[in-house]
Amino acid sequence: MRNMENAQPARIGDAAGTLPRKSRLLVTGGAGFIGANFVHHWLEMHPGDRVVVLDALTYAGNLANLEPVKGHPDLKFVQGNICDTPKVERLLREEGIDTIVHFAAESHVDRSIHGPDAFIETNVHGTHSMLKAARKVWLEEKTVPRHRFHHVSTDEVYGSLGPKDPAFHERTAYAPNSPYSASKAASDHLVRAYHHTYGLQVTTSNCSNNYGPFHFPEKLIPLMIVNLLHGRALPIYGDGRNVRDWLHVSDHCRGIDLILRNGRPGEVYNIGGGVESENLELVETLCAVADDAFAALQDLCSRFSGCPAARGDKSSSLIQFVKDRPGHDRRYAIDCGKAERELGYRAQVSLAQGLRNTFDWYVQNEWWWRAVMDGSYQRWVETHYR
Ligand code: NAD
Ligand code: TYD
Repeated sequence: MRNMENAQPARIGDAAGTLPRKSRLLVTGGAGFIGANFVHHWLEMHPGDRVVVLDALTYAGNLANLEPVKGHPDLKFVQGNICDTPKVERLLREEGIDTIVHFAAESHVDRSIHGPDAFIETNVHGTHSMLKAARKVWLEEKTVPRHRFHHVSTDEVYGSLGPKDPAFHERTAYAPNSPYSASKAASDHLVRAYHHTYGLQVTTSNCSNNYGPFHFPEKLIPLMIVNLLHGRALPIYGDGRNVRDWLHVSDHCRGIDLILRNGRPGEVYNIGGGVESENLELVETLCAVADDAFAALQDLCSRFSGCPAARGDKSSSLIQFVKDRPGHDRRYAIDCGKAERELGYRAQVSLAQGLRNTFDWYVQNEWWWRAVMDGSYQRWVETHYR
């Protein structure tokens, strides 16, 4: 999606946007959901910039997410672990990187409850490894005239809100409740410390729940779409009244772009979609989207004959309340006032439109989700939803 603020891209860290210099980005986790969407966005909006993706290709990383930009002359993919500091240092030097956009993380709360170790390793040690490498190459060896380390974090570091509490803002005290959010909180503190102690030029964004294309079907929205198409149960944790603030991934990518171009080093920006929804309400909306789509397209009924909508029944009949997630945060809501005032950020995709587009994307890209639902995915579903 194009918008006016991106029509004449300024160079990173160059407020006036007058230098002809091209940027050279290292995108960690660029084969994951948000990272891949960001790579697509950047290559389209900033022609001529170099984009190097560093990704370990864990269960959540998938080269198919980069299929739309495969063979792009400005893109390079490197398989590797962010904990491998010498490898990161080499990449920064050899590629003349001046900008790191750090997405790589273990990102699923439920998995962090089952096995927190990987979250501490990647999210805490991995982020520290990235910071150490950046400090060595950029601050000590001075390989580039200006640099930026952008850290992608989550609103979950702020904890859980009551129904009437004001939304999270950048000065809300940290109160992480899950091993995932605690590991992200630790990484945020390290990023902040590297700015204050060593002068590394950092920015951090804390964003709400993303959704959109290439979203791995272990998270709520893609899981519900894929289950619904198969006619499988739609598992709702607890009473389904937990509230999330939904952000279309394209809005998130534009938000990060604005921070990279116009954000002030050392600052934190909250990015959200401005739409709160209870989980049950959200899933019911998705079911209604599916019912409409099946009613309009005969082809869907033959392709996904297991879905109740293929027989003219309501997809919402698949909803099933299941045991709640331990420590399940009740409500997240994001106040994006700072990003709006300082950067001109505003979410552009409404939840209704975003859910329709996302449903359509999953219907049109069956090859993608069938490919990612391999043996390890099946094992996760079996253990988690047993
Ligand atoms: P994801 O799980 O889809 O992708 C993570 C990517 O990181 C994968 O490609 C994986 O292979 C890679 N990775 C994992 N460990 C690695 C390692 N040690 N070295 C190199 N690569 C590694 O995650 P996502 O949903 O795209 O999230 C991206 C970032 O955004 C994360 O930092 C997450 O905490 C943050 N975030 C996500 C959401 C959301 O709703 N998805 C919301 C707020 C913040
Ligand atoms: P999720 O997509 O895992 O994101 P997060 O935990 O980071 O917010 O979950 C979003 C919400 O949906 C959360 O309140 C948990 C709930 N949920 C279910 O009710 N059922 C499910 O099967 C999943 C995966 C999530």
